[in-house]
Amino acid sequence: MARITVDLDRQIGRVDRRIFGGFIEHLGRCIYGGIFDEGSALADARGFRTDVLNALRPLKMPMLRWPGGNFVSGYHWIDGIGPRDERPRKSELAWLAEESNRFGTDEFIEYCRELGTDPYICINMGTGTIDEAQAWVEYCNGTGNTYWANLRRKNGHDEPYNVRYWGLGNELYGGWQLGASTADDYVNKGREFAKVMKLTDPSIELISCGQNGWSDWDRAVINGLAPLVDYHSIHIYTGSADYYRNVFAPHQAERAIRICSALIEQARYNQRIAHPIGIAYDEWNIWYRTRSADDRKAGIEEQYDLSDALAFASYLNVFIRECKKVPIANLAQMVNAIAPVFTNPSGLFLQTIYHPLQLYVEHAQDVALDPTVVCETISLDSDDEAAQRQHRIADLGPFKVLDVSVTRDEAGRTVTLGIVNRHRDDAVTTSVNVGAAISSAVAYEVNGDDPTVRNTFERPDAVAVKQRSLTPAGSGVEVTLPAHSVTVIRLSLS
Ligand code: AHR
Ligand code: AHR
Repeated sequence: MARITVDLDRQIGRVDRRIFGGFIEHLGRCIYGGIFDEGSALADARGFRTDVLNALRPLKMPMLRWPGGNFVSGYHWIDGIGPRDERPRKSELAWLAEESNRFGTDEFIEYCRELGTDPYICINMGTGTIDEAQAWVEYCNGTGNTYWANLRRKNGHDEPYNVRYWGLGNELYGGWQLGASTADDYVNKGREFAKVMKLTDPSIELISCGQNGWSDWDRAVINGLAPLVDYHSIHIYTGSADYYRNVFAPHQAERAIRICSALIEQARYNQRIAHPIGIAYDEWNIWYRTRSADDRKAGIEEQYDLSDALAFASYLNVFIRECKKVPIANLAQMVNAIAPVFTNPSGLFLQTIYHPLQLYVEHAQDVALDPTVVCETISLDSDDEAAQRQHRIADLGPFKVLDVSVTRDEAGRTVTLGIVNRHRDDAVTTSVNVGAAISSAVAYEVNGDDPTVRNTFERPDAVAVKQRSLTPAGSGVEVTLPAHSVTVIRLSLS
């Protein structure tokens, strides 16, 4: 039998709700035909799909990143304001599409207000200019009698939008990015963008463009921009058709966070930087099926299976365990493109990955704890280097079969465990002991017939949440976690 022992005083830190952030990009059917579908019977007067809004609401996203992604590096935001019918339709070179510009800054802010989420705008540092970035901040946040603030008013928005989070470009290290650059060039440019943006509104918070957290790019950018930014970003997607590689891959993200955090600490120490710099893990997900050129044109409509939901829950465990280093994380993306919500013109279904997200959002508490987990381990074989490169997994383990995060509320009355049983074939029975009397225990389980099962329009609940009560005994409770499952256990302490 496995053992999970929780010391209610062994705190890691506070869980920032912003780890449950989202991301929408002008990409395939994420925005057009996803969240925004003018003329659809399912859309409201603003063009927002109400079924999509209703599916997103339970995710209580604290912040939403927009408009890209790769898209932003060729995006001129001024094309997307003013009367919709007069906006220019342009070639979109990141995803080889056409951009109608009918969804722009005002629509994005309206969408954020509707969802109760804070906007996070990533600027164009690929083909965009310092002037455009300056004007964007002023259009959104300006309170003076200036052209840009007045243009916002003219477009019907008297009050400033107070957009707090601004990203300094997207993945500019990559050859696929319009206007890609070397790290040194990016740092030099970034300093000037940051300067004018902060001069325009000193209250904004800036996010420097990171890679995987530990690359030479990250080191150079952190060292160069640390005095000016509040967060440094990491993007890592994982995924593999091989079950064990898929479910263990998020450990790569955990290592990235630790190394990136060390780079940040080193820069802060060397440069005597007093302000904190957190990691904004502002694109994460499982993404490996839809990566060809054709898939990209088709809008990367990944169909998620149960094994992806397991990996997904491990990402959430990682963010909780590393909460002192990661105040912000943005799931990429929200609808249709590598997304938890999948639409067609007449409806939607929830992909497998939706369920762990919704459970964690609902049940994760404010204080992360560091439990002791004793269980079987599994190692990956080491002789498959090509596959390793392809799957971009550098760890071979041994990995614990159970991946666990634990949180409690401030008062110590509620404890939530998020447990992924990654064993493909075996159930694991585990004791959970929290050292204080448990009055009730509820388990919410995400599972399905086998790890490859998916939800579809025909079978939308093939993978869903099942709830059951557990019977506590004193300060402990025993629970059997089925093979390939995610279980969120909520304990009330007396
Ligand atoms: O989320 C899909 C893409 O992944 C984003 O556009 C880009 O930033 C990343 O490469
Ligand atoms: O596939 C090309 C790039 O590789 C993606 O845009 C990025 O997410 C990844 O690092």
